[in-house]
Amino acid sequence: MEINKNVVVIDNPLIEHKLSIIRNKNTGTKEFREIIGEIACILCYHALSDAKLKEIEIETPICKTKVNILDEDNYAFVPILRAGTGMLNGLISMIPNAKIGHIGLYRNEETLEPTMYYYKMPKNISKKEVIILDPMLATGGSATDTIKMLKKDGVKKIKFLCIIAAPEGIERLQKEYPDVKIFTSCIDETLNEKGYIVPGLGDAGDRIFGTK
Ligand code: PRP
Ligand code: URA
Repeated sequence: MEINKNVVVIDNPLIEHKLSIIRNKNTGTKEFREIIGEIACILCYHALSDAKLKEIEIETPICKTKVNILDEDNYAFVPILRAGTGMLNGLISMIPNAKIGHIGLYRNEETLEPTMYYYKMPKNISKKEVIILDPMLATGGSATDTIKMLKKDGVKKIKFLCIIAAPEGIERLQKEYPDVKIFTSCIDETLNEKGYIVPGLGDAGDRIFGTK
């Protein structure tokens, strides 16, 4: 479902079913991780629906033919540490030769402002289409800081993939960076006073890595 041309919600019964499992606090680490990867893979499929293909000639066992291929080197995935790395396997299974950059951000639990502790991008990042990965778009602080850094590096085409988005995060991202298209598997109700998405799934990083 397209909320507007820059926000796509992949509402599908299968995804809704998978979301119901990861929202459940009794779901264990293994299943939680697997489902984050599966949904990420589906988000990637939708995010790449505008990909440009290049025609090449190959030979099947029967004859020569023309086929269309993706220039995988054109893409960079940028997971926001930590939780974004939980989505990486799903994306790599779709575009195994994409390059990978990392940005490390954690939210100050009082101010909810993100602090950057790591930033390393592939070379020629400015020439690539960058797909940012983070399961949770809450206040939007981590996403906007990441986009700010990438734009400073000259990146022109950026997409943001998340599992759950809060309306507040979507609004902020669209206001600050209207050119960045958001793909999410759902939009939840709101944020609570601690900046957690409601109903959400809790702390995505802790649930992926089993740290709490
Ligand atoms: C979580 C999440 C996002 C961020 C979203 O990370 O993975 O990066 O919060 O919140 P925001 O939209 O309000 O910025 P967290 O800071 O908990 O770090 P972690 O991934 O290391 O657990
Ligand atoms: N980060 C999370 O991991 N969960 C939320 O609900 C909000 C931010």
